[in-house]
Amino acid sequence: MYKEQQSKNDAFHVAIVMDGNGRWATNQNKPRFLGHQAGAERVREIVETAVKMDIDILTLYAFSSDNWMRPKPEVDFLMHLFSMYLKSEIQRCLKNNIRLSIIGRRDRLKPSIVKLIEKAEEKTKKGTQLHLRVAIDYSSRYNIVESIIKYKDQMNDENLQNLSEKLNMTNVDFLIRTGGEQRLSDFLLWECAYAELYFSDIFWPDFSEQNFREAMDEFYNRDRRFGMIPVAIAI
Ligand code: FPP
Repeated sequence: MYKEQQSKNDAFHVAIVMDGNGRWATNQNKPRFLGHQAGAERVREIVETAVKMDIDILTLYAFSSDNWMRPKPEVDFLMHLFSMYLKSEIQRCLKNNIRLSIIGRRDRLKPSIVKLIEKAEEKTKKGTQLHLRVAIDYSSRYNIVESIIKYKDQMNDENLQNLSEKLNMTNVDFLIRTGGEQRLSDFLLWECAYAELYFSDIFWPDFSEQNFREAMDEFYNRDRRFGMIPVAIAI
């Protein structure tokens, strides 16, 4: 059902900015790191729901390049969480036929994390049910500039779509941001050219399967035109 809403020939791609972990924790008089921990648990449920909903690609914003500016203990804790996640999720991914990839820069990550990423990607590379992409040290602007530098000689109007695919810049159909803010924060700027946007006030650790399904229902009810006019009046 949701797949009918996707842009022609593209995989159905949902992206999520998982915001609100810190405020979720602060509201409960807990330290911020517990918000991230609860957020990581929520990731599992949402990934399982994405599988049930037949989503092809799910991209999650876990750590932006700007997040390096957070206090060191918080950054360290997040890196610890990612390591734990990469170790623990391989089996779950294999069981559910999920391919796991990490997008973003690797040159500033600890070698031990890069090793875990490479291992998880290698072990799950045959997964076909869902392509789960987690963005770590990710900046969309950086990605675009890097791509221009690398492929500037091949860029022209005709091959822009082919190039997008080559660069793993697949169109996003639906972008969800939790936590009440309404901005993109340097996430998938190119890929979101035609994305439907959905903002929820719910903090990420509270964003349930039900909330995800409600968001998808709203997507399903939107009229996507890609710059055209509705078929009924196109005579
Ligand atoms: C934004 O909330 C969230 C992050 C910067 C980290 C996201 C990480 C997770 C959801 C957990 C780990 C993920 C995986 C894939 C294991 P915030 O801290 O900016 O919240 P605030 O705006 O309320 O301060």
